[in-house]
Amino acid sequence: CAELFTTGSLAGKRVVITAGPTREAIDPVRYVSNHSSGKMGYALAQACIEAGARVTLISGPVHLPTPDRVHRLNVNSALDMLAASGKAVDAGCDVFIATAAVADYRPVSVAEHKIKKAGDAMTIELVRNPDIVATMAARADRPFVVGFAAETQNVEAYALSKLRDKKLDMIACNDVSRQDIGFQSDDNAMVIFWNGGSRRLDKAPKTFIARELVSLISQHFSQ
Ligand code: CTP
Ligand code: CA
Repeated sequence: CAELFTTGSLAGKRVVITAGPTREAIDPVRYVSNHSSGKMGYALAQACIEAGARVTLISGPVHLPTPDRVHRLNVNSALDMLAASGKAVDAGCDVFIATAAVADYRPVSVAEHKIKKAGDAMTIELVRNPDIVATMAARADRPFVVGFAAETQNVEAYALSKLRDKKLDMIACNDVSRQDIGFQSDDNAMVIFWNGGSRRLDKAPKTFIARELVSLISQHFSQ
């Protein structure tokens, strides 16, 4: 077992990964969320372990087993995920990988009691959540930061602007309008961009895509 941590392309490196959806409470029984399965983040956690890294997985609510040797922290909301990410990076982090489908907005306030229905329509006011990956990339002691982009149109253009605007080192983008890959699927296909290069990974199991991505991360991280 010790051998695993001394060999491999990420030997001894500390990797923090966010995964899954976040849940933004409306009241004690309801929330705003999305369809993220967490599969890509969990596959990456496994691939990083295989590459010899020490892995902290900050996970929203998903139905997946924790890969062996991965340190998993469960969170619900985007604010919880931000706090857990900050602490994990404070503790020491070489590579931060943001696969989580963070809810962009949360209800302005959480009702203390279950909201009773009244009238034919209702409005829930939402407020913007902080950007977790951009917050980690803005730190003075920033790790190597990898983001994901799920798009339904103009996939590459949006991914490139996220790479620049969030000051990421690398971004992996996929087209979630394709039915055969993405959120719930076991397969994925993506294009990975970094400053000065890109690489297309054709449709393959998420486990395979994860290993390829880890290999790219380790090449660029060590440069
Ligand atoms: N992300 C994050 N915190 C947020 C929103 C997004 O850390 N509050 C991260 C995601 O984990 C992902 C990357 O930012 O690595 C891109 O997420 P995405 O939802 O595609 O981008 P947004 O910046 O939220 O833009 P939009 O949803 O408007 O396309
Ligand atoms: Ca978003």
